[in-house]
Amino acid sequence: MLIPPPLSLYVHLPWCVRKCPYCDFNSHEARGALPFEGYVDALLADLDHDLPLAWGRTVHSVFFGGGTPSLFPAAAIDRFLQGASARLRFAPGLEITLETNPGTAEHGRFEDYRAAGVNRISFGIQSFDDGCLRRLGRIHDSADAEAAVGLAQDAGFDNLNLDLMYALPGQSLAMAEHDVARAVALSPAHISHYQLTLEPNTVFAARPPQGLPDDDLAWDMQERCQALLAAAGYRQYEVSAYARPGRECAHNLNYWRFGDYLGIGAGAHGKLTLGGEQSILRRWKLKHPAAWLTAAGSAAAIGGDERIAEPRRPFEYMLNALRLLEGFRLDDFEARTGLPRAAIAEPLAAARARGWLEADGGRILPTALGGRFGNDVIQLFLEARGPDRGIRPAHDA
Ligand SMILES: C[S@@+](CC[C@H](N)C(=O)[O-])C[C@H]1O[C@@H](n2cnc3c(N)ncnc32)[C@H](O)[C@@H]1O
Ligand code: SF4
Repeated sequence: MLIPPPLSLYVHLPWCVRKCPYCDFNSHEARGALPFEGYVDALLADLDHDLPLAWGRTVHSVFFGGGTPSLFPAAAIDRFLQGASARLRFAPGLEITLETNPGTAEHGRFEDYRAAGVNRISFGIQSFDDGCLRRLGRIHDSADAEAAVGLAQDAGFDNLNLDLMYALPGQSLAMAEHDVARAVALSPAHISHYQLTLEPNTVFAARPPQGLPDDDLAWDMQERCQALLAAAGYRQYEVSAYARPGRECAHNLNYWRFGDYLGIGAGAHGKLTLGGEQSILRRWKLKHPAAWLTAAGSAAAIGGDERIAEPRRPFEYMLNALRLLEGFRLDDFEARTGLPRAAIAEPLAAARARGWLEADGGRILPTALGGRFGNDVIQLFLEARGPDRGIRPAHDA
């Protein structure tokens, strides 16, 4: 029996100052003045159109992702949040995150975001090494990054995430460690530490940069940085996420626990459990901002609707849940997939026999070995092969 899990709201804001050569997100270089007001109107229309999927439910987190949401003025974010909270019940004190490129941080703007209701800022720092930042095509340097974090802290934000990437072109082990040390020195609540991947259809995939670390070096970087983060009080709770106690990202945790989310804006993805018809719907929106803007508020803005068929549900569940060090409870598996635990008895036994998963106090969780073979573990649960969505966070638009 499917039981609707907690609901989140993802809002995609698709523009950036410049497209980074490694990035495969739905992000577009801003040319000329951006239609902020028109985009907010379209977001609210898009939300209105999706509302019947979420009648009576409470929203537990909001995430403005991009793209570069910090290109939007605080007044636009404020108008959207007011409109959204008039349409949907917001849980008291819910987490509201805004992704920010340090190259777009302006004095005074963080106070206004805070007044609008944003209570968590996620900075795309990537590295504190100016050479690495240049090779990544970033629009900011390390001084801009430190200044932007300071501005947010001065404005009263105590719930900050810093995104770092490692295995960068020209990066040594010592440089990767130094990046983590500089991040820790800024005392954020949360650090995301991603290995740079060459994604299809990016400039880096077509022309790989010189000096990329090999797999062994990338592995050493991950291990050393993990240890530095642990020593500084950041507990790893997901493949790439580290937090001070109690500061895990509620929004991403809901994705990884196979929760529900409305996805609005160009290219946004949503996942909704429809209790009445006992199905799980994935809905995504037209990717291109101009096309989505024209169609928002009507069925024409929907890029696709897909029900997750029962045989595929274990794989989709594991794709998310096995990213978490805490793993999952079999009761939650049943409630969120609508399948009995017997449906995964075989692959579960195979994974345990190989030492990839273990059972502990009612939970199933990855072992250290399972963590190294993440994709192989998940493949065991793949019964009906469909289009692979990869293992990056579900909000990738
Ligand atoms: C949407 S971006 C964050 C905000 C803003 N757009 C920025 O870049 O400053 C999300 C994060 O994903 C990570 N990321 C993007 N492309 C990646 C790739 N190819 N490999 C690894 N991490 C990547 C970066 O750390 C980035 O900060
Ligand atoms: S990494 Fe961030 S700033 Fe760069 S293009 Fe992608 S979304 Fe935009």
